[in-house]
Amino acid sequence: MEIKTVGVLGCGLMGSGIAQVCAASGYKTIVREVEQGVLDKGLARVNKFLNDGVEKGKVTAEAREKTLANLSGTTAFDDLKGCDLIVEAIIENVEEKRKTFAALDAVVGEGTIFCSNTSSLCIQELASNTKRPDRFAGLHFFNPVPLMKLVEVIRALTTSDDTYQKVFAFAQSLGKEPITAPDKPGFIVNRLLVPYLLDAVRAFDHGLGTVEDIDKGMKLGTGYPMGPFTLLDFVGLDTTYYIANIMFEEFREPAYAPPPLLKRMVLAGRLGRKSGHGFYKY
Ligand code: CAA
Repeated sequence: MEIKTVGVLGCGLMGSGIAQVCAASGYKTIVREVEQGVLDKGLARVNKFLNDGVEKGKVTAEAREKTLANLSGTTAFDDLKGCDLIVEAIIENVEEKRKTFAALDAVVGEGTIFCSNTSSLCIQELASNTKRPDRFAGLHFFNPVPLMKLVEVIRALTTSDDTYQKVFAFAQSLGKEPITAPDKPGFIVNRLLVPYLLDAVRAFDHGLGTVEDIDKGMKLGTGYPMGPFTLLDFVGLDTTYYIANIMFEEFREPAYAPPPLLKRMVLAGRLGRKSGHGFYKY
């Protein structure tokens, strides 16, 4: 079955970005949120990104119109019934995802492929909770989705060859560079990135240097686009803490154990850019 219509579940930071790149690549895209207010906010984010892109000369006015024409929002599962592929990008909670996929299983066709954008949950667990474990894969995007070229494609034990190939080709059709990652916490990128970020927090806590100097060191000394603390604030301290806990639970290796300072900053509400205060103030 050719993929023509794509559904996206969740219109937060990741979901809205995923919906935008699908629509920009010519897919009829329907994004579903639980509440109209959250949906409107997500669609406004897409609008702003496209308008900024036009202003910067990176997006043509024609491409903006084409993307917006391909994109629609809904709060009803029923509107996703004609989708050939659905990417889930809702809250990182197995039970919420299980309920959402169960609702979809009841409305979509036999051939529809389900993907999850989870950054840390077990793809097999999500797949096994649906009626289509063979038509289920992980499809992990990076923030900001419209700018980051990488997508990780994750095969569960039950993912069929056909599904894997279709999902991989779908990622390429979005103009992304897919890589194949194992169904293990953190996949490839977070498996290496998260211990690095946690190490930076530990090193700072042990007096290695100031936040600014460590950031400057890694940015200018290694060519990373952002130093570790800027990146932690960008990704969200709560998100990093959550992923680290899942990785530590599964691997039981000290490298994945969240440092005490990170836990305390999360408890204090210093979540990074989204709360206006993390390692930096915004
Ligand atoms: N429309 C189109 N293009 C746009 C745009 C828009 N609205 N806004 C920016 N761009 C373009 C810019 O024109 C620029 O293009 P060129 O390189 O051709 O000049 C490019 O995008 C970069 O934009 P900026 O120059 O404005 O900003 P920057 O150079 O500071 O880059 C960034 C911003 C891409 C976010 C960069 O800082 C970066 O790569 N940071 C690291 C991000 C990262 O590591 N993300 C992964 C986080 S981990 C994750 O997501 C996974 C997880 O599971 C937690």
